[in-house]
Amino acid sequence: DKVHVFAPATVANMVCGFDVLGFALHEPGDEVVIRRAGEPGVRLVNITGDEGRLPREVSRNTVSASVISFLQYIGRCDIGIEIELHKHMPIGSGLGSSAASTVAGLYAVNKLLGSPLSRRELLPFAMEGEELACGHGHADNVAPALLGGITLIRGYNPLDVVALPAPPALHASVVFPHVDVPTRDARQMIRTKVALQDAVTQWGNVAGLVAGLFRNDYELIGRSMQDVLIEPTRAILIPEFYEMRRLAIDAGALSFGISGSGPSVFAFAQNAEQANGITSVIQAHLTAQGIGSHGYMSKI
Ligand code: HSE
Repeated sequence: DKVHVFAPATVANMVCGFDVLGFALHEPGDEVVIRRAGEPGVRLVNITGDEGRLPREVSRNTVSASVISFLQYIGRCDIGIEIELHKHMPIGSGLGSSAASTVAGLYAVNKLLGSPLSRRELLPFAMEGEELACGHGHADNVAPALLGGITLIRGYNPLDVVALPAPPALHASVVFPHVDVPTRDARQMIRTKVALQDAVTQWGNVAGLVAGLFRNDYELIGRSMQDVLIEPTRAILIPEFYEMRRLAIDAGALSFGISGSGPSVFAFAQNAEQANGITSVIQAHLTAQGIGSHGYMSKI
């Protein structure tokens, strides 16, 4: 009576699609082990890899809190559940760290109980975890972490999630510079009112990106991945952001932008070698500036 689940890191926003677009990476990610226990109630029995940063109280930890909501919904608060969380990815990195943990926990508990809910039906519980983690229940990390691939949140009320195709050669280069940018802060700093002209530019880009994904048009994907609303504000929190962009584009990147709320950045490339090259050139630049980093590469 034990289920062991891995859920991946995700890149939210995809530059122009704030809160509506995201995709899953192959690595890094988090692991959750869920076990039945004799005594009723949900317990966090072991958390590793978080350097003591995550809450140990079941009502404040996103994994246990979302598992409790799920159990309440399916009417099984009578059972005992033990949770182990093994983090293999940085917290506050902009790579959907809380989403990976929460999704792994929900998927595991649902599986342990014979899959009473579908993957999509688990999404609202995962969004509650995001609300707890950063004060807002956005779905652009939890949806791709749960469903894989690229996802569009067409609407939040009611929730309407659409899976999007990925062109066969699309790869992502991801770099996490070792500076802390909590999502809560990176959300509070952005403007909540936008100019109509900027909105027109932004939705043109979102539509262009989606069209490019369907048409396998790498050039259209690249020129659509521009953000006039959020990036100019958030880029201030990320050291060397514009220099990293210049280096990525010089190394052949189709696009470059912030992953989620940062500080991680990502670029799209048309093959694994190019994506690895972009990751290396960005990391070498950060090292020269005295900033440590982690680099990842993933086929989409
Ligand atoms: N869409 C969210 C944001 C993602 O940009 O704040 C956070 O990872």
